[in-house]
Amino acid sequence: MKATIVLLPGDGIGPEVTTSAHRVLEAIAKRHGHEFRFQECKIGGIAIDMFGDPLPADTIAACKGSDAVLLGAVGGPKWDDPNAKTRPEAGLLKIRKELGLFANLRPIVTFPELLDSSPLKRSIIEGTDILFFRELTGGLYFGPSGCETLEDGQQRAYSTAVYTTSEVERIVRMAADAARTRRKKLTMVDKANVLEASRLWRRVTGKIMQEEYPDLQYEVVLVDSMAMHLLSRPTSFDVVVTSNMFGDILTDEASMLPGSLGMLPSASIGSSGPGLYEPIHGSAPDIAGKGIANPLATILAAAMLCRHSLGLHQEADEIERAVRKVLAQGDRTADLVAKGTASLGTAAMTERVLEAL
Ligand code: IPM
Ligand code: MG
Repeated sequence: MKATIVLLPGDGIGPEVTTSAHRVLEAIAKRHGHEFRFQECKIGGIAIDMFGDPLPADTIAACKGSDAVLLGAVGGPKWDDPNAKTRPEAGLLKIRKELGLFANLRPIVTFPELLDSSPLKRSIIEGTDILFFRELTGGLYFGPSGCETLEDGQQRAYSTAVYTTSEVERIVRMAADAARTRRKKLTMVDKANVLEASRLWRRVTGKIMQEEYPDLQYEVVLVDSMAMHLLSRPTSFDVVVTSNMFGDILTDEASMLPGSLGMLPSASIGSSGPGLYEPIHGSAPDIAGKGIANPLATILAAAMLCRHSLGLHQEADEIERAVRKVLAQGDRTADLVAKGTASLGTAAMTERVLEAL
């Protein structure tokens, strides 16, 4: 097959891990006789530095014209001034909206080889396999917001959580369809005891589950309680669906279950058009440029790209198998070993994956 893939390396360790995933995609294309055309564009802090805009129009156009987008990471202390006109993160939020990427899939799977790298007990996390569906283009992130100065000189700022029926329906159906192919359980997380927007989620999801998915086990959990259950009974969850803000927080919490943030990919997809794939970890400015970042999350994001945007299931499986193989061989980057233990750098780890392919 022929495919155009836009690479958005971004900031911090983004360029290093994107290079690794790019190499893996080239290798898999060669092996299977596909023709992948890669186009690199700017997003985030580097785009602010070069063009004064975290998401230049050229980048948007290239992404819209592509089959899939692979992103490294955006942000860093250089662009953290709270008074700045724009921020790297604004570029990420805008590309999600521009491409209509309303569903963010974050698989939380423990690797048997890494069970002891988790800060949590093996007995609790062993067998964890959760697929989060985080709503990505609505809620608190995109509702009316502002900051005004009151007569007494104080400032008053607000952000509003807004959802419509159809925004909830489309992601709930996507999550429920996924649950049908897995362990047939859907958990919906909200704060319906307090928030009106959550009560809409609860009504809409309840109706869909009753009318369209009676074959699935359906559970509702309040977000505060979910924060606790994720640590006490992670293996009891299969597919979890929730709003933008709750999903942002819960998936960072859940990322600690498998041990390292450096292992977790994510996919952002809409109802049509290209999807966007990225590691869950951020730009890690403290280790940027040192060649020690773990490239496996981005390599696994490339596998998700093959599966979800290109329909290349076998290729995706092969990439995931190669990653498991290097872990089984004992290959580790610095984030996966005890301090002071020898480890592989980004390029060497990528080599191992390429060999395992
Ligand atoms: C994420 C990140 C982003 C978000 C930031 C960088 C805007 O935390 O993808 O989870 O909040 O969505
Ligand atoms: Mg986040």
